[in-house]
Amino acid sequence: MKFLIANWKMNKNFDDGLKVIKAIRKKIKNKSNKKYIILPSLQSTLYIKNNIVKNDVIFGSQDCSQFKNGAFTGDISAEMIKKIGCKYVLIGHSERRTIFNETDEVLKTKMNRALEQKLKVIFCVGESLTQFKQGKSIPFIIKQITKAFDKSINFKNVIIAYEPIWAIGTNVTPKMQEIDNIHYKIKEAMKVHFNITKIPILYGGSVKSDNSADIFSLKNVDGGLIGGASLIASEFCKIYDTL
Ligand code: PGA
Repeated sequence: MKFLIANWKMNKNFDDGLKVIKAIRKKIKNKSNKKYIILPSLQSTLYIKNNIVKNDVIFGSQDCSQFKNGAFTGDISAEMIKKIGCKYVLIGHSERRTIFNETDEVLKTKMNRALEQKLKVIFCVGESLTQFKQGKSIPFIIKQITKAFDKSINFKNVIIAYEPIWAIGTNVTPKMQEIDNIHYKIKEAMKVHFNITKIPILYGGSVKSDNSADIFSLKNVDGGLIGGASLIASEFCKIYDTL
């Protein structure tokens, strides 16, 4: 199965979001071998779900609380996310790690909250430009993975997204060979540490319709996590066609 995830971040107001979803629905369909998943803000998701004629779009949340429920002002629980109708939760995006100071320990707890609710988790990893330049990408990413996961996790509900921080929103990507190699190393680490041989690894960071075919043709890439280019329906649909 291949996946294309649209991470809208804090963009698209309710009506704008609805327009984009309507345009996407007209052009592309989920298939047995590939599907697209949209991650609007949760408020937009509710609005869109209440206003589209056919409820056949798969939605996810961009984050979830590390707590089950209680006095945690501003947070939204995995249970609520599930009730809204989301099937997926993105955890560990670099913006959450850096801007909101989310640690590996917090992310692990968030992932467990989501998995308890039978939500599927898209777990993000990725190195900084300095780490990349120093050739430290792979050990850093493997550390992120081994800190977040343990053998008790139901990996059937986990997808990994490799997003080099320096490629997010910058219009630069690693070389194709570098992307494939890092994905390969992640798969290898999953085998060594958790005995997992099948786990989708998506690439994210400046994926556009003019580079997506090359990226998706790489042996170890199972789809993409798309930010900027997912905000324009025609562009997102073009990318889906290359998957
Ligand atoms: P980008 O963002 O596609 O705009 O680079 C990717 C992401 O942050 O998930």
